[in-house]
Amino acid sequence: ASANIGVVGLAVMGSNLARNLASREGNTVAIFNRSYEKTETLVSEHPEAGFIPAQTYREFADSLQKPRTAIIMVKAGGPTDAVIDSLVEVFEPGDIIVDGGNAYFPDTIRREKAVRETGINFVGAGISGGEEGALTGPSIMPGGSDESWITLGPILKSIAAIAEGEPCVTHVGHDGAGHFVKMVHNGIEYADMQLIAEAYDLIRRGTGKSPAEIAEIFAEWNKGELESYLIEITAEVLRQVDAETGKPLVDVILDQAGAKGTGAWTVQTALSLGVPVSGIAEATFARSLSSHPEQREVARALPGPDEEFVVTDEAAFIEDVRLALYASKIVAYSQGFDEIRAGAAEYGWNIDLGAISKIWRGGCIIRAQFLNRIADAYAENPELPVLMTAPYFAEALTRGQASWRRVVVTAAQAGIPAPAFSSSLSYYDGIRADRLPAALVQGQRDFFGAHTYKRIDKPGTFHTQWSGDRTEIEAEDTH
Ligand code: 6PG
Repeated sequence: ASANIGVVGLAVMGSNLARNLASREGNTVAIFNRSYEKTETLVSEHPEAGFIPAQTYREFADSLQKPRTAIIMVKAGGPTDAVIDSLVEVFEPGDIIVDGGNAYFPDTIRREKAVRETGINFVGAGISGGEEGALTGPSIMPGGSDESWITLGPILKSIAAIAEGEPCVTHVGHDGAGHFVKMVHNGIEYADMQLIAEAYDLIRRGTGKSPAEIAEIFAEWNKGELESYLIEITAEVLRQVDAETGKPLVDVILDQAGAKGTGAWTVQTALSLGVPVSGIAEATFARSLSSHPEQREVARALPGPDEEFVVTDEAAFIEDVRLALYASKIVAYSQGFDEIRAGAAEYGWNIDLGAISKIWRGGCIIRAQFLNRIADAYAENPELPVLMTAPYFAEALTRGQASWRRVVVTAAQAGIPAPAFSSSLSYYDGIRADRLPAALVQGQRDFFGAHTYKRIDKPGTFHTQWSGDRTEIEAEDTH
């Protein structure tokens, strides 16, 4: 036994992670793949890595030092379960199985419980950063037991991205906590991407600028408070020219956005937890809407506004869009962190929100300057109930709100869809409202279903006898 870490599953993410591990001082990496051919290829293409290839799970287990530690990098779902079963057969109590895929956190909770019964540790670890990140330094979000973190922590720290001198990995919490946080990361990623896309669309349709010209605007934005990986790659995508047609690539890509499910999970989970992640939800739905060409084809006949959309002051409009983007982004992150807080309370995880913002500063897809501000906010008040009320964000929202409102109004009048911009603004106005029309909804509920209501002026639960003499009586609280 000479390897301190093993990787199972050698598709792109797995191979890159294995190479990353092998490149760090102190690691010797055992590798296993269902078809041995792939293992051999990786070994021959990367002799510098010193991989220890295994043909069988038994051989793989024998090549690992105890406690054996292996990271699974296979397709989420059935394939993951199959690999876990095989590893459980050859591993021993105290060993550690890590699932580095995008697993749905309830699956991780289930697997952790089942594997724990054998005495083996099971860790669901979210890994973000795509292929490039896996190779050079991802952001890693491991869950699992404290015992597993003792062995796993130093290994993961050795391969994670570094931000402000700190490795982008922390022990998020027990069992499914890591995959839960990775799921919300992806939800925020969806919102961030949709907001950027809406900003691009508004500028393009408002000013008639070309994708290449808009790329320059994004490159400029990337020097300021919006600095982030997603803004940076947006400029790259907009600059790209299609070799075949000579057109901007963005104009020849079919306008249907796909999704592998993590955004939908974030929204489904938020619905169950009762957390309004409206920005993430709109971003997810925007992808769904785009992906129904048959509906879009017939709906094309519906009328838009009569007046043509003209922007008189281009520079002012672009600055409005920038500020609207920033304000909406603050809302999206605030909602995402709210979901993590609620999830932690529901599942009994002790999640340090400040630590999460720190490990997202590097390596992952949503990495951005901005996350330093979130870290500051939680450092100042770890119990912050609404992230966007922290002084720095409140100031940015104050500064941006007039622009934000103008952009949403303009989009509505021009007939340009801006679901993430406008839902974020509605959330902002909803959560800061003195009084909401929820009072009327509660009255309606009481009318048709005797669902009762509370009063603002005295304790207790009440019901108006709507079908009788409409007098009010005290009632049992039925919610
Ligand atoms: C990451 C990405 C990664 C992957 C997602 C994309 O953090 O590295 O989020 O996990 O690219 O699966 O999700 P969709 O395919 O649903 O857009």
